Amino acid sequence: MKNLSTILATLVLVFAFMNSASAEDWKVSATAKKKLNPYELSKKNISSGKKVYQTNCKSCHGDPTKANMLPLVPAPTDLGSQNFLVQSDGEIYHKIKTGKGAMPTFENTLNDESKWMVIAYLRSFDKNKKKAVVAKAVVNPEVIDVKIELNVDADNKKLRAQLTGLKKDGKRVGLEGIEMSFLVKRTFGQLDISGEEAYTNANGELLIQFPTDLPGDREGQVDLLVKLTDEDNYGPVEEKRVLSIAVPTNPKNPLDERAMWGTRANAPIWIIASYVLGVIGIWSVIFLVLFQVFQLSKMRVKS
Ligand code: HEC
Repeated sequence: MKNLSTILATLVLVFAFMNSASAEDWKVSATAKKKLNPYELSKKNISSGKKVYQTNCKSCHGDPTKANMLPLVPAPTDLGSQNFLVQSDGEIYHKIKTGKGAMPTFENTLNDESKWMVIAYLRSFDKNKKKAVVAKAVVNPEVIDVKIELNVDADNKKLRAQLTGLKKDGKRVGLEGIEMSFLVKRTFGQLDISGEEAYTNANGELLIQFPTDLPGDREGQVDLLVKLTDEDNYGPVEEKRVLSIAVPTNPKNPLDERAMWGTRANAPIWIIASYVLGVIGIWSVIFLVLFQVFQLSKMRVKS
């Protein structure tokens, strides 16, 4: 009898486990699969999708196509792989919305537009769809010695970068439609000041407004790094510069104020007062004792 109940209990446990495992299957209805991305696969949408991806998805899924996802079980899919991208927009949308297991639901954390932008970004890795995007983009001539030339208008806080390359016939030409990142070094990491659409124009130029309220060091200096956002185009091309166009700051040294951690004269009054009183108290006791001893020795001399 005892054996039977043990077996029954085990069976119940096993069934419960199997049930929960099968309930984890990702079921996407046929109607949900048919949903289409209402936003077009434009450069702008792809780049805003990239931003959403980097803040919300990259921590687990890694970089699309690089398969450097977090080692979870089951593993977060490489969302840039062709295997994954055979799924329809609607199917991907449904999965982002509902989540499963370690994959969080983004039903309320991301608005609809952001979800579709991420899908547009992921689609940009789709070999079948990418052709369409590239065809719309500008085709630059084949060049070597690609470089960024930076002009700074410190008075108006304007930065002008020009991206040029050397053609085979020795002519230097501007490169059009290339995305650039303007990064300002901060204490922790880098601040991207390039804005939404940082693509070079027909002359290879790009104008960026430096933020008017960005604090720099005591002299208002900041370290600027300008580089190509996508190294696939021309490899790593970058230009570094120290600019004196930020707002000068005079950081207060916390040690200069009267505080618990202050040294000597900067300690709080009550600490100094109790210390001084303590010292006076101890020395008075010592003097009192010495005085009494002295009195004692005087008494012995008398007797
Ligand atoms: C906390 C980690 C985590 C975050 C953050 C995360 N995911 Fe996931 N994601 C996972 C895991 C784990 C899976 C695999 C789940 C499974 O198969 O049970 C997954 C699966 C998916 C799938 C289904 C893949 C397939 O093979 O069909 C999609 C689509 C997806 N994630 C998109 C996203 C998007 C888009 C974001 C950002 C908005 C995101 N995920 C953020 C962990 C995460």
